[in-house]
Amino acid sequence: MEPQSQNLKTIPLLSLGRFHISEEYGFLLPNPLKELPDHYRPWMEIANKLPHLIESHQLQAQVDKMPLLTCQFLQSYREQRLAHLVLSFITMGYVWQKGETQPKEVLPRNLALPFVEVSRNLGIPPILVHADLVLTNWTTRDPERPLEIRNLDVIFSFPGEESLRGFILVTVLVEKAAVPGIKALVQAVNAILQPSQNSLLQALQRLRLCIQDITRTLGQMHDYVDPDIFYAVIRIFLSGWKDNPAMPVGLIYEGVSPEPLKYSGGSAAQSTVLHAFDEFLGICHSKESADFLHRMREYMPPSHKAFIEEIHSTPSLRDHILSSGNGQLLTAYNQCVEALAELRSYHITVVTKYLITAATKAKGRRPNYVPGPPLALEERGTGRSTF
Ligand code: HEM
Repeated sequence: MEPQSQNLKTIPLLSLGRFHISEEYGFLLPNPLKELPDHYRPWMEIANKLPHLIESHQLQAQVDKMPLLTCQFLQSYREQRLAHLVLSFITMGYVWQKGETQPKEVLPRNLALPFVEVSRNLGIPPILVHADLVLTNWTTRDPERPLEIRNLDVIFSFPGEESLRGFILVTVLVEKAAVPGIKALVQAVNAILQPSQNSLLQALQRLRLCIQDITRTLGQMHDYVDPDIFYAVIRIFLSGWKDNPAMPVGLIYEGVSPEPLKYSGGSAAQSTVLHAFDEFLGICHSKESADFLHRMREYMPPSHKAFIEEIHSTPSLRDHILSSGNGQLLTAYNQCVEALAELRSYHITVVTKYLITAATKAKGRRPNYVPGPPLALEERGTGRSTF
């Protein structure tokens, strides 16, 4: 049998570039476009006024008058990503304009056909995904200044004003905070493939610090997002039409398929960050959670999903550390796992405040509350997990 180190050398080293992941921005699309070619002005005019059109109940009428546009003038990848963002925002507004009691069950062909075509080109489903809402939906006010909330803005919005903006931008900052961790992960995988215990130890220590920074960054939700607005106003626009009692049969995409199609709504469970850390650290979830998280991978850009699969196919970090007998590595590994568990516990406190406590409060005042929080969503997250 060949020595293990020779086997490992035959596996190519991991790199971010191979998976279209940015050294500076991680899974965020670097400096997303804000404008499409002039041909797409009818889409942009609607998308730029979306909160007003939804609140005044004019969006559906405007969309029904929209011309059917060809996708052939969308040339670059970045234009395709912006087109998906624009069409996904219009679609969510169109379906949920009148709330969960009267969702639109048919997406008209002038919206459905280009949306499905762009989605097929990108390899992501025709619904709003995390890669739209967060990864492609940010811009800096001053590109020379650092990425912090005062220097950031969203490109497109739903109703929910400052809380919606805060929800999206804090998640942008979480993605940015993850960048040193993604790089540390790559360094660590390569330190197993071309064995270097020093490099592996340093990478694990950096990964732990990064996970702790993500937890701190997630805490900014409390400063920028009002739980009542999140629960009663924002959440419905992120909701999908799979396992959703408000749309039990799904959504008909006119001109695409006579049968309704079912897709989960946008959720940070579709962010590649924690999936990558889980694969690397060898974290095992309960069957129900693992099945849900695997389904969420279908909502990621294909190159990001491929990155997770590549990590999965590399030699096991746990086995490597256990067989090394190196106590420092074992401690550093355990600290990463602890930091990840703390991040998840903290996330649960956020979920409790923004969904469970907010739901209880909303129930108490329901008779006077118009249009009312989404009832069908009460026991579920926007990705439809029983959180
Ligand atoms: C107000 C803020 C947030 C709320 C209310 C919230 C709520 C939820 C809910 C309900 C789920 C279950 C899946 C679903 O049905 O969608 C979930 C999953 C998840 N969320 Fe959040 N979330 C928030 C912010 C974030 C942020 C900023 C991140 C970081 C990117 C994040 C990362 C995740 C991940 C990775 C999962 C999958 C479960 C796991 O791996 O532990 N969430 N979230």
